[in-house]
Amino acid sequence: MDDLDRPPGPRAPAAWQTVAWMARPAAFMRRVHERFGDPVTIRTYWTQEPMVLFSHPDAVREIFRLDPAIAPAGQSWEFLRPFAGPQSILLLDGEEHLRERRLLQTPFHGERMRAFAPTVAELASREFATWSGRVATLERMRHLTLEVILRVVFGARGEREAAQLREAVEGTLDGVRSLPRMLAMALVQRDLGPRSPWGRFRLGVERFDALLLDVVARRRAEPSGDSVLALLLEQRDDEGKPPTDRHLRDQLVALLVGGHDSSAASLAWAFERLARHPAVHARLGEGDPAYLDAVVKEVLRVRPALTIAPRRLLAPARIAGRTLPAGVQVAACLWLAMRREDLWPEAGAFRPERWLEGAAPNPMSWIPFGGGVRRCAGAPFAEMEMREVLRAAADLTIRPVRPEPERARRSMLVVTPHRGGEVLIGGKPPRRL
Ligand code: HEM
Repeated sequence: MDDLDRPPGPRAPAAWQTVAWMARPAAFMRRVHERFGDPVTIRTYWTQEPMVLFSHPDAVREIFRLDPAIAPAGQSWEFLRPFAGPQSILLLDGEEHLRERRLLQTPFHGERMRAFAPTVAELASREFATWSGRVATLERMRHLTLEVILRVVFGARGEREAAQLREAVEGTLDGVRSLPRMLAMALVQRDLGPRSPWGRFRLGVERFDALLLDVVARRRAEPSGDSVLALLLEQRDDEGKPPTDRHLRDQLVALLVGGHDSSAASLAWAFERLARHPAVHARLGEGDPAYLDAVVKEVLRVRPALTIAPRRLLAPARIAGRTLPAGVQVAACLWLAMRREDLWPEAGAFRPERWLEGAAPNPMSWIPFGGGVRRCAGAPFAEMEMREVLRAAADLTIRPVRPEPERARRSMLVVTPHRGGEVLIGGKPPRRL
């Protein structure tokens, strides 16, 4: 990168920055921002190129409006291809990507999406009925959000169908969740037998695909409008043709990859925050829908599950008055944008009330779902899911295991509470450690 164009950043080796980025992402982003300002250039093994983080709403808007021809996002997901599939929205760019987005957005609109809320609420109530004593909420929310995807998105019916899919998904996702393993496997892609990591992964994906394609065939045979899959079956392409089985498979996997860990992490953060803010939790119990919505928005602001929306520049681009050269990653830093003291007074404080007072925030300063043509395709679903789960949790007695907040750490692509969002349900007050 030309020196004139290079925003400042830490000189520490990429290895050191990678460790900080993974182990203490919030502290790392805060420190580089305090020291070098906005924008700041970081170097980690996360991306091959240096990454320039922006947080000012004007710069964020410019990034979200970048032409996908020069700033594609699909390339960043290339390592997921062996699982995501060639028609995945995650990997496509340009016209093909927009076409796929239009198809996928249909089930997540208005009434159709709201019809899924009672099923989510029921699954959540069933989950909470098992809670008592010490609960690792991240693990439990991974279980619950997977259950929601199996039942509501894939349309799994009956315990047998759900159990088979659950087991196959868990086996496959373990491989996908480990970024180094996934990158290494994507690089090698040689089948060194069924016992090699790549061989095992391929077998896992094949087994998962066979089960998923079976579900698709059964839902085709007995159509109903009770799942996202059922609505996807109604899609027609520009020539009026219905989707193929492989296309549906890639769509369902994109929703699984996009919607499982991100929702689980956000909900675990919700419990981590609520346990330390009993007044907020008590007010949730009063049942005001506007307050519930404010709690969801505030959790997503103060503890976003994804911290950046990166785009790799294929040609020079002008952002915030600077010309950045081809070959760098530019990122809207979701975490820093939602922590700006000039836009969010007491930005670090968890205060849902702020959403009920004063003017609405600048839309480019509340960006937990990214933005532009790549904005989270499941955002309305994710917010509905969080509302239903937190509504169902309003009657629980939740206390923290330790009084100090849990810090953030990276787990694959999402940021989670480092102790897994541990809380105490019911019972006596926690012992001070
Ligand atoms: C609270 C939970 C969630 C958060 C915080 C979240 C956040 C995000 C973010 C930041 C992006 C990238 C946006 C960008 O690059 O500008 C994204 C993309 C995506 N998300 Fe979500 N997401 C959540 C839940 C979901 C759910 C429940 C689904 C589906 C059921 C989903 C499906 C997707 C898909 C398909 C994409 C790719 C969109 C594209 O490339 O056009 N997400 N999400």
